[in-house]
Amino acid sequence: MSDVEAIRQGARIIRQGGIVAFPTETVYGLGADAYNPLAVARIFEVKRRPYFDPLIVHIEHPADLGKLVKKIPSSAKKLTEKLWPGPLTVVLLKEEGIPDIVTAGLPSLAVRMPDHPMALALIKESKRPLAAPSANPFGYLSPTTAEHVREQLDDQVDLILDGGPCQVGVESTIVSFLEKKPRMLRPGGVSLEEIESIIGKVEISSIKDNPSAPGMFPRHYAPRTPIVLHRDEMHLDSYEGKRVGFLAFQEPVHFLKFRHMEVLSKKGDFREAAANLFSAIRRLDALDLDLILAEAVPEAGLGRAIMDRLRRAASRGE
Ligand code: TXA
Ligand code: MG
Repeated sequence: MSDVEAIRQGARIIRQGGIVAFPTETVYGLGADAYNPLAVARIFEVKRRPYFDPLIVHIEHPADLGKLVKKIPSSAKKLTEKLWPGPLTVVLLKEEGIPDIVTAGLPSLAVRMPDHPMALALIKESKRPLAAPSANPFGYLSPTTAEHVREQLDDQVDLILDGGPCQVGVESTIVSFLEKKPRMLRPGGVSLEEIESIIGKVEISSIKDNPSAPGMFPRHYAPRTPIVLHRDEMHLDSYEGKRVGFLAFQEPVHFLKFRHMEVLSKKGDFREAAANLFSAIRRLDALDLDLILAEAVPEAGLGRAIMDRLRRAASRGE
C-alpha cells in the first residue's frame, strides 16, 4: 500500500470512529476524531490510561486553533506563528463542543500542529482534529518508530501508519496560557530558551508542583528495568557483579566495563541525543539487565527535556 493510500484508509477509519497510530516529528501518536467521545474512549482503553489524564488535540493549520479555543492571547499567537508546525503544545480555554473525555473535564484544551507530512495529511484527509496521546501503553516509553507501536499495540489499533523514525524523539513542549504569565508544564522538543526568546520570561512547573498538568506523573516513560541516574564516576564499583547497561550521553572518556552501552550522541549533541533516547532505552530494556545506569546531561536547551524523561523513568513511583 502506498503512503497516499494508507493515509486515505487512515482517514476513513478516523471518520468511522476508529483509532489510527501515526508518526509525528516528536513521537508516534494514537489518534481518534476529537469530536467523537466513543472513539476517544477507545484510546484510553487501549492505552490503559486513566480518564483524568487529558489528551492533546492535533490540527493541520494554525487557523484551526481558533475553532477549538475561546481566546488566543497575543503571546500564544506569537509563539504558534513562530513555532508551528513543530513540537509546541499550547493550553488555552476550550470552546464548547469539545467532548469532556478529551480534556478530562478541564475547562482548558491542549492543542498542537505537528511537523510531519503524514500527520498533517491524515488530519486534513479526516477533516477532523485528532485527539492523540503518544501511542504507548500508559506509563511506558513513547514510541519513536512504527515498529515500537507494532510491538506493543499492534492488535489493538485499526491501522499503524509508518513514517519512519521520529526526528525529534521527545514529546512536545507544553506551555499553558491560563494564567497571567505563560507557564511551561512539560519541557520538550522546543527549548525554553527558544520560547523565551520569542515571548519573554516563562514560568516553570516542576514535576512535583504540577497539578495543572494532571498527566505529569513522576513515574512515566519507565522501562521495565530499573533505571538509575548517574552523575559522576565515583560509585561505579558498587555495581560490580551486576548486569548493568550504561546509557551514555556522549562517547565516554573512560573505559567502562559495562555489559552493554548505548551512546546517545558521540559528539554530545542534544538534538541527536533526544532523537535516540527512547529507542536506546528500549534496546537496553530488552536485554534483561539488573539495572540501566543513565548518564546525567546538562540541563540547558533540549537537555532539559532529556533529563525530565530520565528522571521520570528513574522515579520509583513515589
Ligand atoms: O509530542 C507530543 O506532544 C505527543 C505527540 C503524539 O503529539 N503527544 C503526547 O501526548 O505526548 P501525551 O498524551 O503522551 O501527553 C500529553 C500531556 C499529558 O501530560 C497531559 O496531562 C497534558 O499533555 N495535557 C493535556 N491536556 C492538558 C490540559 N488541558 N492542561 C494541562 N495539561 C494537559
Ligand atoms: Mg505519553
